[in-house]
Amino acid sequence: MVSTAVVGCGDVSVVHLAAIERLGIKLAGVCDTDPARRAAAASRYGVPGFAGHRELLAEVRPDVVHVCTPHDQHVDVAIDCLAAGVPVLVEKPVAHRVDEAERLIAAAGRNPGVRIGICLQNRYNLTARHAYDLLRSGELGAVRGGSATVFWHREPAYYAARPWRGERRHSGGGVLINQAIHTLDLMEWLLGDVERVRGHAGRYALDGTVDVEDTATVLLDHAGGARSVVFATVANVTDSPVTIEITTERAVLLIRGGLTVTYADGRTEAVAERVADAGGRDYWGASHELLIADFYRSLHDPEPFWIGPREGIRSLRLIQQIYRQNS
Ligand SMILES: NC(=O)c1ccc[n+]([C@@H]2O[C@H](COP(=O)([O-])OP(=O)(O)OC[C@H]3O[C@@H](n4cnc5c(N)ncnc54)[C@H](O)[C@@H]3O)[C@@H](O)[C@H]2O)c1
Repeated sequence: MVSTAVVGCGDVSVVHLAAIERLGIKLAGVCDTDPARRAAAASRYGVPGFAGHRELLAEVRPDVVHVCTPHDQHVDVAIDCLAAGVPVLVEKPVAHRVDEAERLIAAAGRNPGVRIGICLQNRYNLTARHAYDLLRSGELGAVRGGSATVFWHREPAYYAARPWRGERRHSGGGVLINQAIHTLDLMEWLLGDVERVRGHAGRYALDGTVDVEDTATVLLDHAGGARSVVFATVANVTDSPVTIEITTERAVLLIRGGLTVTYADGRTEAVAERVADAGGRDYWGASHELLIADFYRSLHDPEPFWIGPREGIRSLRLIQQIYRQNS
């Protein structure tokens, strides 16, 4: 039986731990630098808790590790797992900076037999997968372009509860790297490689206690000539559903909760989305457990996991380019 461990026992770990339990995987230990969160997770699951991931690796010797730490704590933990020969599933973003992500890619290259995945679970959404298959089928003709909105709500309390989220040196940034990264990843996955990115990131609503952006506009030029625009903010008064609209020669695809495809001849097709994972937040979507299950299913596959650090770095590069354009 495969055994696993979770490093970082904060908000998102709840979804990972629930998925591990439901999938019948043996949790062998948890790790958190914060004693209270470490103790809470250890006692909830009746497993040993460790203050450092190296002790966990040495003492528990898990078969897999989930990395659910703040952004700037992903790469060191993941590299130590790879060096110990332990497959590792890393939460998004792959890293808080592109150079850090490159360091992880190099480590993965030195350990080609050790599996690594990045938790960009929205690629498992029913709507995204259906849109991907339709766009690749050729049935819709060429993709002309798209637009996306991420209109979410984060109070100052969200940053006060976890100061790293509002500190660029730890998080790498705000709404783009923390929230809209999933949508940017989907836009590139669905519409094709991005050849040019232009954008602006600003802070309008959050007070001076954070140094990350709360709002951003992005223009993406995709290979093949499609163009997309993305507007992301955490200054909205509520967490609205993410919208993605894609216009092709023969149809318009709209994802907002479900997917609606409207064909040029007036026909429509609807695809419903799954309900959200237990223990998670609605806006995280319903696909964490699917990605986690797929990662475990693929443990003995000969080829690398399909969402590895080379996939994860794509949206991170776009985001970092936008930050550079603003500095
Ligand atoms: N995929 C998604 O939809 C999704 C949703 C939410 C969060 N996330 C990601 O999950 C990660 C964690 O986010 P969160 O909101 O749970 O943060 P959090 O602050 O609630 O939890 C992080 C935990 O890691 C611990 N920690 C920090 N450094 C550590 C280290 N070196 N070793 C062990 N533990 C350490 C902290 O004490 C904290 O308990 C982030 O990368 C975030 O972007 C992803």
